[in-house]
Amino acid sequence: MRNKKIIIIGASSGIGRALAEILVSEGNIVGITGRRTELLQDLEAAQPDRYYVRAFDVTDTDGCADHLDALVSTMGGVDILVISAGGGDVNEALDFAVEQKIIALNVSGFTCVADWAFNHFKAKGHGHLAAISSIAGIRGSRQAPAYSATKAYQTNYLQGLRQKAHKEQAAITITDIRPGFVDTPMAKSPVKFWVAPIDKAARQIYQALRKRKKVVHITKRWQLIAWIYKWLPGRLHERI
Ligand SMILES: NC(=O)c1ccc[n+]([C@@H]2O[C@H](COP(=O)([O-])OP(=O)(O)OC[C@H]3O[C@@H](n4cnc5c(N)ncnc54)[C@H](OP(=O)(O)O)[C@@H]3O)[C@@H](O)[C@H]2O)c1
Repeated sequence: MRNKKIIIIGASSGIGRALAEILVSEGNIVGITGRRTELLQDLEAAQPDRYYVRAFDVTDTDGCADHLDALVSTMGGVDILVISAGGGDVNEALDFAVEQKIIALNVSGFTCVADWAFNHFKAKGHGHLAAISSIAGIRGSRQAPAYSATKAYQTNYLQGLRQKAHKEQAAITITDIRPGFVDTPMAKSPVKFWVAPIDKAARQIYQALRKRKKVVHITKRWQLIAWIYKWLPGRLHERI
């Protein structure tokens, strides 16, 4: 994949940042966003002719579309938009303030960006929207209920957009990226296994974008866990 214009929402750290670096090294132009301007500028400094920076908070849904319009205008267009911005916390105490923050980011912010991308690509005639959901969206979680529920929302929303694109004969590819554990500070689960290095995860995401996959598990072997977890009888799931 070369000479594409790609926006990554949430490229200041973690998977989004690693993916931005791969995309630039493969000869693409990348628009990078996040709230931490200085981290975005650090990335831009490595190859200023390849990166476009726009710092904004996706939970500020009133300003989100204007930021995206401005970024696309400075980039001269966009072919692919990847939503990596997302987060969660273990919240066994069910502190509502914690849940509310997660919902604002993974539901409101996500939806605002996804809707903008769908409408932009539909008006343009083609495009590719990808988002990083999670294996966590398969079943509810007692430790991080808002995280698992909002990731289920994202997967479901992407499915709806894929159906909408098909029905409206819009040439829009929708990719749902479902990681297991990736080695970033975001991976806060008390029990972790098969933790993928960031570069490996980003490389597999790059390949999925290149192949315009509908759904991809990161790393690939998480597909097995996803299958087992999905079909685990309810009475066993309740005991985990
Ligand atoms: N790491 C894992 O094990 C794992 C597993 C499954 C799924 N995921 C998903 O993968 C995605 C990326 O996570 P990561 O592990 O790379 O975590 P990360 O390093 O914390 O990256 C999250 C990115 O999102 C941006 N972001 C967060 N809140 C934002 C906001 N309000 N407005 C704009 N940007 C915001 C952050 O930038 P700023 O802080 O600068 O705003 C950062 O660039 C998330 O959706 C996460 O749920 C991760």
